[in-house]
Amino acid sequence: MTALDLSSPVAVVGTGTMGQGIAQVALVAGHPVRLYDAAPGRAQAAADAIGARLDRLVEKDRLTGADRDAARARLLPAESLGDLADCALVVEAVLERLDVKQELFRELEGVVGEDCLLATNTSSLSVTAIGGALANPVRFVGLHFFNPAPLLPLVEVVSGFATDVTYATRAYETARAWGKTPVACADTPGFIVNRIARPFYAEAFAVYEAQGADPATIDAVLRECGGFKMGAFELTDLIGQDVNESVTHSVWQSFFQDVRFTPSLAQRRLVESGRLGRKSGHGWYDYAEDAERAEPHTAERQQPPAYVVAEGDLGPASELLALIREAGIPVREEDEDHGTRLVLPSGGQLALADGQTSVEFRDVVYFDLALDYRRATRIALSASQDTSPQTLAEATGLFQALGKDVSVIGDVPGMIVARTVARIVDLAHDAVAKGVATEEDIDTAMRLGVNYPLGPFEWSRRLGRNWAYALLDDLHLRDPSGRYAPSLALYRHAYASDKREGNTS
Ligand SMILES: NC(=O)c1ccc[n+]([C@@H]2O[C@H](COP(=O)([O-])OP(=O)(O)OC[C@H]3O[C@@H](n4cnc5c(N)ncnc54)[C@H](O)[C@@H]3O)[C@@H](O)[C@H]2O)c1
Repeated sequence: MTALDLSSPVAVVGTGTMGQGIAQVALVAGHPVRLYDAAPGRAQAAADAIGARLDRLVEKDRLTGADRDAARARLLPAESLGDLADCALVVEAVLERLDVKQELFRELEGVVGEDCLLATNTSSLSVTAIGGALANPVRFVGLHFFNPAPLLPLVEVVSGFATDVTYATRAYETARAWGKTPVACADTPGFIVNRIARPFYAEAFAVYEAQGADPATIDAVLRECGGFKMGAFELTDLIGQDVNESVTHSVWQSFFQDVRFTPSLAQRRLVESGRLGRKSGHGWYDYAEDAERAEPHTAERQQPPAYVVAEGDLGPASELLALIREAGIPVREEDEDHGTRLVLPSGGQLALADGQTSVEFRDVVYFDLALDYRRATRIALSASQDTSPQTLAEATGLFQALGKDVSVIGDVPGMIVARTVARIVDLAHDAVAKGVATEEDIDTAMRLGVNYPLGPFEWSRRLGRNWAYALLDDLHLRDPSGRYAPSLALYRHAYASDKREGNTS
């Protein structure tokens, strides 16, 4: 057990949103806590705010009155950095500026003891760069909490280039002793969550920019079909478009403008126009009281087809066959070496989104990937100008007969959920191959940090080892910018699985 002893004082420097939350966590865990802020009076105000939050915990029976009083007695605002001399851990949560953080740690190094663990809560700066200001950076780590820190369990424990494993382990174990779920990661842009989550926003914005669908429809498909708690447009309105865009921009710049992380022009314009989301009353959506609520496009009711013919294995969508039969529509299954499609009475076909466009085929309608076809309440379909109206009507009627709302979007290869999940899976494999974190920690981080219904590796296992690779490979062919180029790690993953199954062709 290498966690800090509970009798060791912990300091939090910078007592804004994050500093207060982190201080509350350390305090409730049992540490004496010192608060320091450069703005006069702010540390005292933070102590008062934390005290008020403890009162609310008592009201909700989540803390006893005696524990609250003891915690309050352990919480002390500090007049100067010098008051932090006996602390065993200092967590910094000041302004997100490299020079400000470096200057602070330089000063702190002259104040605290040699063994004091120094931690930054930076979300976008390099831990290594901040620690570079120190004479002794081995005890310097990133401790990346998520907002609100008292409620969200995830903490990314980031090792910089010079961080010694003893200190990283101490930080990790301390976060765990505080009731958090720590994950270990290397110091690369965005750490785990802010790196692997980028496509969730980027692909939704790309579909919108390509005029594939409007925000309300894309959000509804991500939620009701993809199983995400919120869509990308409503979530970024909540986070703040400026905040979300600045993380995207920072990750893209820090990866030397890697095209896989390219920011969205549409989001840039939104920020430039001052539409920052809920906090400004208008973002992708209008939050004025009298504003009309944006509704997703939902297709009119259509007749279900009299029967369907299933050719080949539908892969991640194979559950659909049982659902179609349960809806009373006969299914005839035919073995097919190449096809993985449902053939409709019109002669047209229905296929799971695979990175190709409908226009490449005579009469096909694509349907999007669902987290769970039984529980999904909406499904997106895409058709091209060459798709016959009858095929689209039969496809629509089929999913409506299964109890789903149907949103018909433009001819977008990889559609909405499928391309988003494939890219998340790819970035996750790439991150593991580059030593950023383990598969388990990445799954944990994405479930707890951004509430994904499944971790990328859980998703990958469910979809089949080569599904994401095949989809991205197809998308890359159609958009050779490199944005969709599957990583070498994903290629290896897909190829290794083929070999294991005896198919090396
Ligand atoms: N807000 C979030 O959702 C979030 C989430 C994770 C990480 N972070 C990171 O946490 C840090 C703090 O963010 P925040 O949202 O709490 O900011 P904030 O603006 O709410 O608080 C920053 C505080 O730092 C103080 N400060 C500034 N310079 C200082 C200095 N040199 N010495 C001491 N105090 C100083 C300010 O007076 C202010 O009280 C940033 O690095 C940010 O990237 C923020």
